[in-house]
Amino acid sequence: ERERTLAMIKPDGLSGNYTERIKEVILESGFDIVKEAVVQLDAERASLFYAEHSGRSFFDSLVKYMTSGPVLVMILERPDAISHWRVLIGPTDARKAKISNPNSIRAMCGVDSEKNCVHGSDSPQSAAREISFFFGDVRSDNADTVE
Ligand code: CMP
Repeated sequence: ERERTLAMIKPDGLSGNYTERIKEVILESGFDIVKEAVVQLDAERASLFYAEHSGRSFFDSLVKYMTSGPVLVMILERPDAISHWRVLIGPTDARKAKISNPNSIRAMCGVDSEKNCVHGSDSPQSAAREISFFFGDVRSDNADTVE
């Protein structure tokens, strides 16, 4: 069963010119990039996107990081896309990723548990929420749609 997930290259990933390498990994891993957009988040939008973390000690710093430059958001599609993308990006803490998952995307371009370069939805519910957060209602979009 094909599935969609929301992938994001965070400000440090974009400014560090990791986009092309990350896209190569995405396509080599059998994902289709259904849609993509470069977006500059403001504090309000970043806070809304990460609302579930609003009580955490790192929240203010996270919002600052996520608004420090544009991000690239993508809808990725393939069978089992949500868990497949999570495995490819590796653990949240990029320092850990460099040790336990050296081939992961976060090992390649992340720095620590905050500046971890990429994001992936963690469940079907968050994938649906995050995709509509950036792209609106795209559930019926596909290549076979007759205009
Ligand atoms: P992400 O997977 O996008 O989801 C929540 C984000 O919060 C996470 O990546 C990190 O950027 C950030 N984050 C998670 N845990 C911590 C932490 N312990 N310290 C700082 N930032 C964190």
